[in-house]
Amino acid sequence: MSKKIAVLVGSLRKGSYSKQIAKNLMKLFPSDYEAKLVEIGNLPLYSEDIDTPESVPAEYTEFRDQIKDADGVLFVTPEYNRSIPGGLKNAIDVGSRPYGQSAWDKKPAAIVSVSPGAISGFGANHTLRQSLVFLNMPVLQQPEAYIGNVTNILDKDGNVAEGTVGFLQSIVDAYVELLNRY
Ligand SMILES: Cc1cc2nc3c(=O)[nH]c(=O)nc-3n(C[C@H](O)[C@H](O)[C@H](O)COP(=O)(O)O)c2cc1C
Repeated sequence: MSKKIAVLVGSLRKGSYSKQIAKNLMKLFPSDYEAKLVEIGNLPLYSEDIDTPESVPAEYTEFRDQIKDADGVLFVTPEYNRSIPGGLKNAIDVGSRPYGQSAWDKKPAAIVSVSPGAISGFGANHTLRQSLVFLNMPVLQQPEAYIGNVTNILDKDGNVAEGTVGFLQSIVDAYVELLNRY
């Protein structure tokens, strides 16, 4: 069955390796799936003072609608200081409110952490899981997706080396299986 996947990239950087990995992953979904990047860099820092019916930023509403419209959420993120980048946490907070109307509720998710280093964003990957448990999102458990030494597997056009495509495909296949359970 065709599904819509919202793809959130934790990095706001133009040349982001995480975004390049996200684009490689997006190509590996079944042809009737629609995987779309969702912008998070335009979201004002979350504050309950502005998140009122009178003053809610249009960017919050648009973001929440895009997540609500999706059947699942794929997170591809770097690690910042052994945690997730602030921009991604902000997006999670924006999507989680107003209280009782979380856009994330029950959306199956997959997490891929990306790093030029050897620890592969493990800290970010698991920090993100902590929030997704609270947000009631079933998260892909296996295969765990830690992409380390990322500069070694991307070519100048942003494509992953042939030897890595199979690993990325195994992540997408397992995620599709998870999505089909819901
Ligand atoms: C504020 C900051 C903190 C960082 N902390 C970590 C870290 O904890 N672990 C890690 O592997 N890399 C860390 N890095 C390096 C990033 O992995 C690297 O900049 C990476 O390219 C960012 O992902 P992107 O290419 O998708 O933008 C940090 C980078 C920044 C800017």
